[in-house]
Amino acid sequence: MEIIIQPTPEAGSIVAAQIIAKLVRRKPDCVLGLATGSTPLGTYRELIRMHREDGLDFANVTTFNLDEYVGLPLEHPQSYRAFMAENFFRQVNANARRTHIPDGLARDVPAECARYEAAIVAAGGIDLQLLGIGTDGHIGFNEPSSSLASRTRIKTLTERTRADNARFFHGDLAQVPFHCITMGVGTIMASREVLMLAFGANKADAVAAAVEGPITAMNPASVLQMHPVAKCVVDGAAAAKLARRDYYHWVFAHKPDWQKISA
Ligand code: GLP
Repeated sequence: MEIIIQPTPEAGSIVAAQIIAKLVRRKPDCVLGLATGSTPLGTYRELIRMHREDGLDFANVTTFNLDEYVGLPLEHPQSYRAFMAENFFRQVNANARRTHIPDGLARDVPAECARYEAAIVAAGGIDLQLLGIGTDGHIGFNEPSSSLASRTRIKTLTERTRADNARFFHGDLAQVPFHCITMGVGTIMASREVLMLAFGANKADAVAAAVEGPITAMNPASVLQMHPVAKCVVDGAAAAKLARRDYYHWVFAHKPDWQKISA
């Protein structure tokens, strides 16, 4: 895994946006896997800026979001459909027909999960999957003990994840759904490139375990060690418990010119 340590979340978000923008410019009809949560918001802001100021064009980009709560009405401000519309899709020239999010209101959840997997395949697979990481190492909503080969399916959120996410529901834990539909770990691993972001001291343990610990379903993000093209962008606080921090800085500082990250 390539570890990119940046001084602040803002700097990390700019690097992440540059990596995504480079792909969109090289392949205007690329397929992006997108994520929700607070972590990618700075990346979305920078991509929106690039769209407005530099003409970064999303018209032909197809997107698949990682996950959606089960049972929240579409218009609920915390449904991931509403979150993505507000924080990204509406602010760039995304084509609504090309933005995909699991349907958390589907009557037949297994059929919806199978449909979602098939839609990813029909689009040619995901070129780059953006990820955050939960404080327990979850990616998407693949909680610890998730099968590392799993595909899109229903999951039950842990109490810790529900508590972590209660802040989006005015701190009211009772409002946080118990279930979600999430891409599986195997779905995420099938994407051609993975870009995981983690900012803040509360992510330091999960990041250290994911990057330098054993590969284990107890920290689903650790399976990214098996991905051939995985990058992890962290700020100093999230990097604080990495034993080989100095080496990651060294690698980044000595990239050959052709490998340097810029939009
Ligand atoms: C959420 C999402 C994940 C996200 C994670 C961290 O529950 N399903 O995709 O990466 O938890 O969230 P945050 O970025 O707000 O810390």
